[in-house]
Amino acid sequence: MKQVRQALILLIVSLTALVVASACKRAERPLASSEARIGQVAQGDNGSVEPTLVTLPADSHLLAVAPKGADAPVDGAALFVANCSACHQVTGDGVPGAFPPLNGSAYVVSDNTERLVSIMLHGLQGPITVKGTTYAGMMTPFAAVLNDKEVAAVATYIRSSWTNSASAVAPETVEKMRVKWGQRGAFTISELGEEPGA
Ligand code: HEC
Repeated sequence: MKQVRQALILLIVSLTALVVASACKRAERPLASSEARIGQVAQGDNGSVEPTLVTLPADSHLLAVAPKGADAPVDGAALFVANCSACHQVTGDGVPGAFPPLNGSAYVVSDNTERLVSIMLHGLQGPITVKGTTYAGMMTPFAAVLNDKEVAAVATYIRSSWTNSASAVAPETVEKMRVKWGQRGAFTISELGEEPGA
């Protein structure tokens, strides 16, 4: 009787080892480039929480929301809505008397993209005339919020949206301005140079 029990226990132990080993092997299978592996937490029958790893098939909907690699393109429109539209509005028309327009602004579509990027990195204060109206507000800096690619994507978006149709801004321009200015406070427009006819 004792021997039977021992044999049974041995059988159970080796079976368990086999199952675990094959599960590990499955988890180690190299991923195809179109697949992803995610952690999943399931609730056991007795209320216990059991973490598992599942491999998502290439056509999984979940893959679409998985974090993208560093090379993924950044969405200038979405970044504009998240960071700029509270003041400049989604229409780009700003708020009369408070926030200047980006739509039709000579500062936005100017060939001087270094000035545009500088305003975005460090902010702007003091009087500025845009489309014939003078504003004297305070724009918050984005140097610590957006990286070079993101600043370039937002700049490109505002230069090519609404009635604006100006060329794209390269991340290299943003990098150059970051190095040039280092850490500093908000600009006044006279430091950066006023746009004639703005
Ligand atoms: C907190 C409100 C606020 C936010 C957020 C903001 N701005 Fe501004 N922005 C201003 C104000 C106010 C001015 C005018 C500052 C002055 O009077 O000197 C301005 C000026 C500007 C100008 C120069 C004037 C013009 O209208 O062309 C540009 C370009 C600009 N902002 C772009 C942006 C972009 C791009 C973002 C998002 C990354 C952004 N701003 C986020 C308030 C804001």
